[in-house]
Amino acid sequence: MDKYAVFGNPISQSKSPLIHQAFAKQTAQAIEYTAIKAELDNFSGAIRDFMAHGGKGCNVTVPFKEQAFQLADQVSERAELAGAVNTLSFKEDGSIFADNTDGAGLVEDLKAHGAPLSGRILLIGAGGAARGVIHPLLAFSPLELVIVNRTFYKAESLAKRFESFGNVVAMTTEDLKEAGTFDLVINSTSASLSGDLPPISSHVFNQNSVAYDMVYGDKPTVFCRWAKEQGCKIAIDGLGMLLGQAAVAFSIWRNVMPNTQVVMQMLRSEMSK
Ligand code: ATR
Repeated sequence: MDKYAVFGNPISQSKSPLIHQAFAKQTAQAIEYTAIKAELDNFSGAIRDFMAHGGKGCNVTVPFKEQAFQLADQVSERAELAGAVNTLSFKEDGSIFADNTDGAGLVEDLKAHGAPLSGRILLIGAGGAARGVIHPLLAFSPLELVIVNRTFYKAESLAKRFESFGNVVAMTTEDLKEAGTFDLVINSTSASLSGDLPPISSHVFNQNSVAYDMVYGDKPTVFCRWAKEQGCKIAIDGLGMLLGQAAVAFSIWRNVMPNTQVVMQMLRSEMSK
């Protein structure tokens, strides 16, 4: 049986084994998929060990996405731009190909919800999660993509990095107060994980805005609740993005694209137990 895994630290909370096992069943692929905790100072050793024991590929999550990028022999263009990867494929000759499917996962979920990808988009946060989705978002030629971050210089440096791919600018939280409303507001910060809201003006929403939080939970996230309270039309959490990135990774390894909707229902009901 072909072996796959997700590597992270911590890893016990990961839903990837459940998701990939469900994809395998759905597409009748005989694979094994486990969760492996790599020691913080030995990520590459853990990967090499998995390869030596017949691993065919893996997902990589926090905090190893940049290290995985460094480890790869070949990377996709989108991964090169993101500077971080979440999917590794191990080749017959022992080399490692790396890709980043996070942005594709987000975009697929946004499309499934009919989100306005060609309008004005606000991206909150400028960490690794933001970096992975900017190029896929710019591929839809939005009117404008504004990046705002608590630490402004990081937003500024991301806007510069991607300026040749579309209309992307950085703003301070002060500038944002005067910047009007947005069709799509995406929260890529890790603030929701600790129950916090990113410090942005509530004036960014209008009644047609769609809000997206990359974080998810068994209840609506604090950002989704807040966006709804500010009058935005739809607030979506990041479970669909998680499934979307997993589906694209699965298709890279197995050449077949699973249906995420069925697995979404299974996960939601698991999470509400
Ligand atoms: P990730 O790889 O998940 O994006 P990261 O690189 O540590 O993680 O980035 C986390 C992002 O969340 C950053 O944009 C961070 O803002 P700073 O650059 O100012 O640190 C943002 N963030 C985390 N907690 C936040 C909070 N409580 N309020 C606002 N922004 C927060």
